[in-house]
Formats: sequence, C-alpha cells, structure tokens
Amino acid sequence: MSVLLTNIGELVTNDPAHGGWSGAAGAGPAGTGRSGPDRADAAGGLGIVRDAAVVVADGRIAWTGPASSAPAADDAVDLAGRAVLPGFVDSHSHTVFAGDRAAEFAARMTGEPYTGGGIATTVAATRAAGEETLRARGRALVREMLTQGTTTVEIKSGYGQDVATEARMLRIARELTPETTYLGAHTVPAEYSGDRAGYLDLVTGPMLAACAPHARWVDVFCEPAAPTAFDEDESRAVLHAGLRAGLLARVHGNQLSAGPGVRLAVEVGAASVDHCTHLTDADVDALAGSWDAHLAGEGNPPVAGPGRDDGPGSLAGAAGAAGAAGAAGGGTVATLLPAVEFSTRSPYPDARRLLAAGVPVALATDCNPGSGYSSSVPFVVALAVREMRMSPAEALWSATAGGALALRRDDVGHLRVGARADLVVLDAPSHLYLSYRPGVPLVTEVWKDGVRV
Ligand code: NIG
Ligand code: FE
Repeated sequence: MSVLLTNIGELVTNDPAHGGWSGAAGAGPAGTGRSGPDRADAAGGLGIVRDAAVVVADGRIAWTGPASSAPAADDAVDLAGRAVLPGFVDSHSHTVFAGDRAAEFAARMTGEPYTGGGIATTVAATRAAGEETLRARGRALVREMLTQGTTTVEIKSGYGQDVATEARMLRIARELTPETTYLGAHTVPAEYSGDRAGYLDLVTGPMLAACAPHARWVDVFCEPAAPTAFDEDESRAVLHAGLRAGLLARVHGNQLSAGPGVRLAVEVGAASVDHCTHLTDADVDALAGSWDAHLAGEGNPPVAGPGRDDGPGSLAGAAGAAGAAGAAGGGTVATLLPAVEFSTRSPYPDARRLLAAGVPVALATDCNPGSGYSSSVPFVVALAVREMRMSPAEALWSATAGGALALRRDDVGHLRVGARADLVVLDAPSHLYLSYRPGVPLVTEVWKDGVRV
C-alpha cells in the first residue's frame, strides 16, 4: 500500500540529496552536522523542496521531489500548499511521574531559585502512585507530544529512586518508546542522605540489574552545585556501571554550574550531554574534539536500523535493532533544553558558541514536572530562535536531525528515502511559522510509520 502526499508547499527533508545538512547518517564531516547548522542562511541546509510530493510505502519514505514528477501511488492526499516536516525527535523527557509542582513554579516566578531540591516531591508522589496512574499519565503525555508533532521521544526513570519504582517507571516507559533511559542517579533520596556510598552501591548494583532489561541508556545528574545530585567521581561510577551492563551513556551536565558533566560525557563516549547552560572554553573544545576523534576513525558511524513495528499510536516501535547497531560511535551532541531556562528563569545556553565551534546541537523539551513542564517541541523551537539566536532552519534541524543524532538514530529525523515515514503537516506555508507564530497550534496532521495518527 502506497500513499502520495502531494501539493506540499514546502517540504523539509533534511536530505543532502536536496541540499540538506547531513547529520544523522554520520558520514564525513557533514555527517556530524558540523558543516551544517553554523550557517546563517534562512532555509539552506534543510533540504527544502517546494511544490513537492512524498510517496510513503510500507511505513517508509519511498520517494520525495517535485510534485510535477511524482510517481503514481495507490492513494493520494492533497495537502493544499501546507508545509511538511520530519517528525520531531524529542531526545530528552521525564514523562513518567506522578503529582505536580505548580506551587514550586509559582514560587520561582516570584524569586525562588531552581536547585533541583523539588525532585524529592516528585519522588514521593511517584513512589506512592499505583502503576495504572503512572501509565495513564505517561500515555497521556506521549499522546500530547504526538499531537504536537513529536514522533520519537526519549523517556527517563529517576523519580523512583528505589529498585521497584525505578523498574516500574522503565517498564511503563518501554511501552511508550524504545528510547528509555535509566536515571536511578537523578538525586540521592532522603533515606540515603547520610549514606551516599550506599545509594551508589544500590544504583550501580541491584537497581541497575532490575532496570537494564528495560533501558537502552544510562544517565546521571552530574551537578556538584546541587547537594543532592552527583559529583564527578560518583557520576563516572554510575556511567561505567551502566556501560558494563550494555547500556549507552548520556549525561545531565552543566545545568546549574560549569561542572564536570561535559568533560565526563566526552570521556565516556556519551551520545549527548544535556542542558549545557554553563560551559567553559574547555567544555566546548571537548565537545568539538569528540567529533574530530570520531571522524579520525576512532568511532564508527552511528547506524540505527529498522526494528520492531508496534504500529502507530504509541511511539513504541521506533528503534528495535537500534540499541545494538547504534551503539558503536559518534561524538557527543550538545542537547539544549531552553524550556527549562524559561521555566526556571535562568540564562539561556549559548547555542551560537557551540555552533561556531562545530558542535552538533539538539533541541529537546526535558518535559518534567519540576524544571520545565512543556511537552511542546514547537515552543522549544520558538525559544531557540527568539532567545538563543538560532536561525529557524538551525532550530528545526536541531529538533529533528539533531535529536536523532543525540539518540544515535539514522531512521528518523529526516525524510530521506528509506526513513521512517514520520511526518508533521503544518497549517502554514513554511517551517518559519513555527517561530513566527509562537504558541499557535500549527501542527494539523501527524503521520507515524506511514499512518496518519
Ligand atoms: O532535567 N536536572 C535534573 N533533572 C531534571 C529536573 C527534574 C525536576 O526538577 O523534577 C532536568 O531539569
Ligand atoms: Fe532532564
């Protein structure tokens, strides 16, 4: 069964064959994104085709190009001049939890700083919640993301901080997405406040054993400036234990201070270091250097293949074999989470500095009840453009191909032939409208694995 989507006013492919910046393929310097989003031209690099068409067959992109030369298909859909984009890849979220922290947000808006201390409130609520409550909230949030154009999402544990609740969070997350992350080392829970070493033993021992079967990634909140988060040595121990268990590394780093997170992420070969709000020159050099090493042949291109197909509706079918295949290499992406700076009233990360150094940048929501409770990638794109001076093209690349790179996935984040047919249709003529009309629900159709959802 094939479908022709035609009369597309502007088709964003991220396909080098249409002049797009490379990124997710990991081939050559362009393959890192390094030749890419440092360019200031408005739309160059997104692989845009105007008056375009797409043929979708068996859940994959079979053809893209000018509508006038499109091949025939079993069915046709006229998109009336609208813009079509790759589905957003939200590479950082915490969407399985219970309770809320609206009061903490209100206090911040009247001057309280964000310290990460409120995480304990969500841990208590999550431990107390029944499994069905957690599942229902997680499902609803992923559905909310999908309707806003997110077709691939990563979800972390980290609000359980005991063996049973961490494993429960990850089991639920795994029903929603293949991109699941074990974050037992989010903070040290109150009952271990006098015994940090004991909690580390738990996180790197029995908790890891219970969680690893449900996770692709291991993460740690590496932030010496937050007393309940983890310092460099503790974080290294957590990441090494996860790597030994077959997980891939990603890191929460440099959110509240210019700490050791970025350095450590590069040291262990993490796919991404997330936040990057406070960076030293050495941090930027280390991130750029991680891609130089990759290109010099010390790593292998990130390849992620097609996997199980669980059908549309959840985002659960996306990776499959990606876990093993995507494990091999690539440098460390800088993932920026500007909805957190918005919601914590903090200075935004310096995206231009990273882009100028040739560091691939991803944009993600970090959707969580504490530091930023937005599920909207369009909102994040608008913030990145307005507040971080990314061009609209750079921001869209970072929210699609950049997110895929941060998850070491090559089957999403672009519309090259063979990609998953994950598409966003905007009720607008161009991708520029994402930041030109902030806050407006422009996503009018979402296709996941070739099916309109
Ligand atoms: O990514 N920084 C640590 N963890 C989350 C916040 C979690 C929370 O405040 O509940 C983050 O911002
Ligand atoms: Fe986070």
